[in-house]
Amino acid sequence: MSSLDYKALAAEARQIFGTAADEQELEAARVAWIGRKGRITVLLRQIPELPEDERPLAGRTLNTLKGDLSSLLDARLREFADSGAGDETGFDITHPGRTPFIGRLHPITKTLDDIIEVFREMGFDVAEGPEVESEYYNFEALNIPEHHPARGMWDTFWTKSPPGLVLRTHTSPVQIRIMENQKPPVRIIVPGRCYRADTPDATHSPVFYQVEGLYVDEGVSMAMLRGALDTFAHRLFGSDVPTRFRPSYFPFTEPSAELDIGCFQCGGNGCRLCKGSGWLEILGSGMVNPELYGFVGYDPEKVTGYAFGMGVERIAMLKYGIDDIRLLYENDLRFLEQF
Ligand code: PHE
Repeated sequence: MSSLDYKALAAEARQIFGTAADEQELEAARVAWIGRKGRITVLLRQIPELPEDERPLAGRTLNTLKGDLSSLLDARLREFADSGAGDETGFDITHPGRTPFIGRLHPITKTLDDIIEVFREMGFDVAEGPEVESEYYNFEALNIPEHHPARGMWDTFWTKSPPGLVLRTHTSPVQIRIMENQKPPVRIIVPGRCYRADTPDATHSPVFYQVEGLYVDEGVSMAMLRGALDTFAHRLFGSDVPTRFRPSYFPFTEPSAELDIGCFQCGGNGCRLCKGSGWLEILGSGMVNPELYGFVGYDPEKVTGYAFGMGVERIAMLKYGIDDIRLLYENDLRFLEQF
């Protein structure tokens, strides 16, 4: 090959790169000339076969040409990008956009949203209350006096300074706060964070979420409670899931009941998840203990009410088949990306 051939070659290549009409044509030129099997690349690879005295010039010339072509390519690409496809702002609206990274909701947030949605549809308003709470709201006004053994139901974090405050052990204190400020009818749900001095394990976390419910009016009955909770269970776990009410005890409700749903893992036959019982406990509830009305100035002769409280992590774990509550608080993306 003579040096004259190089000139012709360079002219031909420059012509093609310089006149490519769009990005596709430019890409075709790149492949044909400087791609892995392009003409220049192939010529470069053939240099060792040239007579020894021709090799240096061939190498220099071809490498220079390759460099020039790739600069020309970049310049033309920039030109296309700047001119845009027919948009005078220079913004190419036909250019495929970059897909932004879209985050996702945490499974606890999703579950909270699901729970709130169901009760909103039933006419409940959303209320909130403080996480640092007085003993009065967390215990006393809920009919849990000092030294009452029922206080042992909640392992409590107490504040040092000022002393005597608690991190609320449940969302029930908001029942009192709302009733103090609002005449019946009251129909609220209260989502929120709660704290208990539990040692973390697969089912306990010192920080967790609850959703409280409270409905007080004339003529509110236990049948209405049962109906509302059934609707809730069916909406979250499927319309054919069996439910049952099981007698229980809470100082602030009388009578009290826990709601169970049929174990969906074993269909009620008994398995590890339901500890052989065929049932899964999902919340505590009951008729508002009339003692509470004395604390908030309601007339126990006139109004009745029901209340319930559920652990959001528990619901999320059952709904999504999560077997360790700690997974919900470790912020491991490999776990969170599954939701
Ligand atoms: N506050 C109770 C708990 O945390 C749950 C509950 C709420 C029970 C309302 C009955 C009525 O254990």
